[in-house]
Amino acid sequence: MDKFIIDGGERLSGSVKLQSAKNSVLPLFAASVLTDKRVTILQTPAISDALCMAQILRELGAEVTFRGGDVVIDSSNACNHEISSALTKELRSSVFMLGSLLTRFRRALIAYPGGCDIGLRPIDLHLNALKRLGVEIEERDGYIFCKCDVMRGADISLDFPSVGATENIMLAAVKAEGKTTLSGAAKEPEIVDLQNFLNGMGAKVYGAGSDVIEIEGVKTLGGVTYRPLKDRIEAGTFLIACAVCGGEVEISGINAAPVGILLHKLRENGCKIHSKNDKIIIESNGRLKCNRRIETMPFPGFPTDLQAQMTALNATCSGGALVVENLFETRFKYVPELHKMGADIEVKGRHAFVRGVERLHGASVVAGDLRGGAALVIAALGADGVSEVIDLSHIDRGYYDFQGKLKKIGANIKRVRL
Ligand code: UD1
Repeated sequence: MDKFIIDGGERLSGSVKLQSAKNSVLPLFAASVLTDKRVTILQTPAISDALCMAQILRELGAEVTFRGGDVVIDSSNACNHEISSALTKELRSSVFMLGSLLTRFRRALIAYPGGCDIGLRPIDLHLNALKRLGVEIEERDGYIFCKCDVMRGADISLDFPSVGATENIMLAAVKAEGKTTLSGAAKEPEIVDLQNFLNGMGAKVYGAGSDVIEIEGVKTLGGVTYRPLKDRIEAGTFLIACAVCGGEVEISGINAAPVGILLHKLRENGCKIHSKNDKIIIESNGRLKCNRRIETMPFPGFPTDLQAQMTALNATCSGGALVVENLFETRFKYVPELHKMGADIEVKGRHAFVRGVERLHGASVVAGDLRGGAALVIAALGADGVSEVIDLSHIDRGYYDFQGKLKKIGANIKRVRL
């Protein structure tokens, strides 16, 4: 097990190059088995979730090769439709495999998916939608057995705009007979990325980014070489780190639109932000005021994946903030770790009441989930003294070379083996 040792208090300055978006790359891995032709996903970060998806594809019989930052997937020999629980329990995105396995083999057998422990994370919306497409589903002993003879396009309406369910439906409907109309779809930029990838393979998917997506089933899909969009959550994490530490940081590879609500909140804190083309520049004097209220919502609302980092920022601003987590029931589990650093935060169910303190102090803390772990790193970067952030396995799921990128902009951070 590894840990970070962080000596806080350094101002940050310099430029950060973003990785491709974790939440784009993972469904693209799943989509790559829709065809028996070669697929290349350019600039795929070697985050552990991506490595785990690669392992899942290998288990199906595909060849997956990481080459100079790109990943090449050849699933022409894939013949297996079962994914072992050892792998599906590693990450939640294994659930996307249902849609693509059904399209490719008309059969899928997977164990219930795992992922970060941030709430119940049911998959009823995925399964109900698959049933609408004609899939028979049996849930037994922690496994999901799916089969169908023919998948037929259908009108599907989601009660909640689930990102994963939207993507799974796209993967399942892409070769179904006839047309599928999905209403109440999630509108995240990563869904537009999946649409572009699928259309690059020859699919007919329209409307991603709005709440109605139309999918006309096609007979065959070909190979594709695709460059995914950049990671807006990684961008947000570095912007918030600079806000906490003070300094001036340029984020390259992303424009303001996908992080619009975050930029609005950071301006409210007192940061100066300029954006031009695919660059965002943030300036912070490190003496900021709290946001009155931050409430997580589906896109384009405030992302739940930046809630923890933003709570860490507010913990050192003047005044008080109310943070409301609407997406996941138990996404404040990192708060007791922030308490060890001197934060004054009270959690009641889905609400966190933050009273800003002047400075946090170094402490030994444990990263229990991906974004909560990033929040602890941010808090440690701004704190007085030395902190250790223990157990980097969750952080490694979503940030490639986190410490290298932070070091390059002036943070005093090193990674050591425990
Ligand atoms: C995706 C992202 C994750 C992000 C989340 C919300 C990926 C790989 N992960 O996760 O980083 O935090 O979107 O933006 O893209 N729900 C149900 N039934 C279902 C499915 C979801 O009730 O069948 C509920 C969930 O419990 C949750 C909400 O819907 O409360 C949102 O979940 P969803 O959008 O599906 O998140 P994920 O796709 O798991």
